[in-house]
Amino acid sequence: MDHFTYRGGALFAEDVPVAEIAAAVGTPFYVYSTATLTRHFQLFDDALAFADHLVCFAMKSLSNQAVLRVLAQAGAGMDVVSAGEYLRAKAAGVPGDKIVFSGVGKTADEMRLALEGGIRQFNVESEPEMIALDAVAQSLGLVAPITLRINPDVDAKTHAKIATGKSENKFGIPISRARDVYALAATLRGLKVVGIDVHIGSQLTELAPFEAAYAKVAELTETLRADGHEITRLDLGGGLGIPYARSNEAPPLPSDYGAMIERTLGHLGCEIEIEPGRLISGNAGLMVSKVIYVKSGEDRDFLILDGAMNDLIRPAMYDAWHDIVPVVEPAPGTATARYDIVGPVCESGDTFAKGREIPPMVAGDLVAFRSAGAYGAVMASEYNSRPLIPEVLVHGDQFAVIRKRPSYEEMIARDSLPEWLE
Ligand code: LLP
Repeated sequence: MDHFTYRGGALFAEDVPVAEIAAAVGTPFYVYSTATLTRHFQLFDDALAFADHLVCFAMKSLSNQAVLRVLAQAGAGMDVVSAGEYLRAKAAGVPGDKIVFSGVGKTADEMRLALEGGIRQFNVESEPEMIALDAVAQSLGLVAPITLRINPDVDAKTHAKIATGKSENKFGIPISRARDVYALAATLRGLKVVGIDVHIGSQLTELAPFEAAYAKVAELTETLRADGHEITRLDLGGGLGIPYARSNEAPPLPSDYGAMIERTLGHLGCEIEIEPGRLISGNAGLMVSKVIYVKSGEDRDFLILDGAMNDLIRPAMYDAWHDIVPVVEPAPGTATARYDIVGPVCESGDTFAKGREIPPMVAGDLVAFRSAGAYGAVMASEYNSRPLIPEVLVHGDQFAVIRKRPSYEEMIARDSLPEWLE
């Protein structure tokens, strides 16, 4: 469920007509719903009520300060993967003890920053990283709380580019070597092992792969405890998928996911952390774009939008489907037309949808891409020298620009000429 609905023939974001935002900020733009963000956070928080827990928002999915502030105020922690994300989380008011640091290639500088600023735990992904973190912590006279991310060798049954839990993936420590690596960790004075971490992939639409991975985590917890390690915290990653094509997809609900966690891991008495990104932010955002031209090709019609692959790269990168809906609700019974929906960037890959059935459009009409809150704005670029598009946050009947569109001058002024070219 989200808060983007038609009322009286117009698409609204909560209580604000989307067309009104378009008139105020110009197109294309992203718009996020506060109520949807907090609702989705709450669903996870409630689903884990059976245990001590912390829902750490995977802010790689959507990292605008205002969005982080909304979630932090609702009680969320943050899952960060870089110094930049760590500093953004801090700037949004998230305390260090609610920030977990994930990622396969943390640098010594990033470790130092987080240790000095305060951190809940590092999710360590390899022996070399563990040794580096131990050295940094000792040099600061600190002890770094860690989990080890284990790779359970489970098929997440998702797009290959976002599956992370198979042994061929670069992530985590093979579960077969986990005991040895935990034994090594116990000898390092700069580290304190607190638990186990696992994340098997993103946009999972079934519970079975999670359950298979978590069953392995349960078994490993018992083994490591028998070896004398204190395992008090389980970080179960993110990955629960959302319905991109609303007409025919129904992934499991957070409540089902929570019940499965309780079933597989509840008996261990551990604190539970999860790192959902997409399920919190995905359906909380639209990308709104305008039709520039309707062009007739040899055998098809093209809808050429002012938004492009640089603004929303998911279709080009993962062949992702996004529902695309008109901002003016079509009259009941309106016949659909068929379009290839494309952007103006100079590559054929700049195609959002092929042969998509939507109501007939004319130049100047607005369309909204649904489920664009996650991995939309954060993956945007200025390819073709198209300035990053603005982000807007809605709260009830209010809206505010939370990242403005840079002017062309600002964009160009980021380059500098070397002396010899001046
Ligand atoms: N934790 C870790 C360690 C992760 O690597 C990720 C996502 C998450 C949590 C959050 O996963 P989520 O709940 O959002 O599925 N750009 C791609 C998705 C990349 C996901 C990367 N890691 C896309 O647009 O589909």
